[in-house]
Amino acid sequence: MKGLVLAGGTGSRLRPLTYTGAKQLIPVGNRPILFYALDALVEAGIYDIGVIIGETGDEVRRAVGDGSQFGAKVTYLPQSAPLGLAHAVRVARDFLENEPFLMFLGDNLLRGGLTGLADRYRGGNYAASILLTEVDDPSQFGVAVLENDRVVRLVEKPANPPSHWALVGAYCFSPVIHEAVDTLKPSWRGEYEITDAIQQLIDWGMAVDAARVEGWWKDTGRPEDVLEANRLILEDLATRVAGVVDSESQISGRVVVEENAQVLRSVVRGPVIIAASTVIEDSYVGPYTSIGPQVRISRTEIENSVVLAESVIEDIPVRIDQSLIGRGVTVRGTKRRPQGLRLVLGDHSRIDV
Ligand code: G1P
Repeated sequence: MKGLVLAGGTGSRLRPLTYTGAKQLIPVGNRPILFYALDALVEAGIYDIGVIIGETGDEVRRAVGDGSQFGAKVTYLPQSAPLGLAHAVRVARDFLENEPFLMFLGDNLLRGGLTGLADRYRGGNYAASILLTEVDDPSQFGVAVLENDRVVRLVEKPANPPSHWALVGAYCFSPVIHEAVDTLKPSWRGEYEITDAIQQLIDWGMAVDAARVEGWWKDTGRPEDVLEANRLILEDLATRVAGVVDSESQISGRVVVEENAQVLRSVVRGPVIIAASTVIEDSYVGPYTSIGPQVRISRTEIENSVVLAESVIEDIPVRIDQSLIGRGVTVRGTKRRPQGLRLVLGDHSRIDV
């Protein structure tokens, strides 16, 4: 079985972070979200992986390389425009040859991995196996109607959802899916919907099997989702201190301090991960915080947050909470008069004071 990971798209809901980078490379627990997807495929015994890339393709290539760091072989498949999941399958057709494949969205996270889905598909005789989870508001997803473990109907983003079973963006397909994709017309949102292609399989009388998510699933489309994903990933953190923690600092709970990082005169309450070459001084870092590499945090309190590489945060008079801070950002308090906020913010920045 081959793998197909979608790492294109524009990430508009994550601006301004996605002006300079791919949404799939935003880190949670200091690792790009996309890396967890590649790990999950390899864990499911899938090593030959196509990665669909768009405008941010160069950055994805630099981060993922040839795939050997994951134990996989990665082939890049450029998509000219984000025209939908079924369009991505069409782009990947030559790569996929006549093999079954597992398709996964590179900005989604699954605690339970993809092995359960892959094994179900391998163990049956299905045109497709799709992964589902029950959600409160399914209207923003593809929605499945089930009879036992069989999918009998599918509809993309219905105004009146016929069930609470949402498609989570993980699918196993037999090569017959290509014939179904060939029948599609663009949907109301101008995309070729994989949901419609799977409905076509059902209309042809083929078996579509429903697998259910074990553990949690998180789509990381919005800033609050990234923070929640970070929180979920840090739940599994194991303590490791490779850097320096001075005698005036206090560390409690599960904390990772990577090589060459320094924690000086500070309090760190896990789960917290502090990346290599970062300095935390005279500060408090509270639960569910990931601090990227080469960051400096001085005389500041921060928790429930994600800070990307090379940022500087100092002398902030109030605790920073529930914040997503991009690369190379400076956030600095000042005692100069007149007091007030002095802001230089990029397009689509968001500040709650
Ligand atoms: C896509 C699929 C949808 C699925 C969702 C999961 O939606 O079209 O069926 O439920 O991913 O994240 P999109 O992200 O394109 O809105």
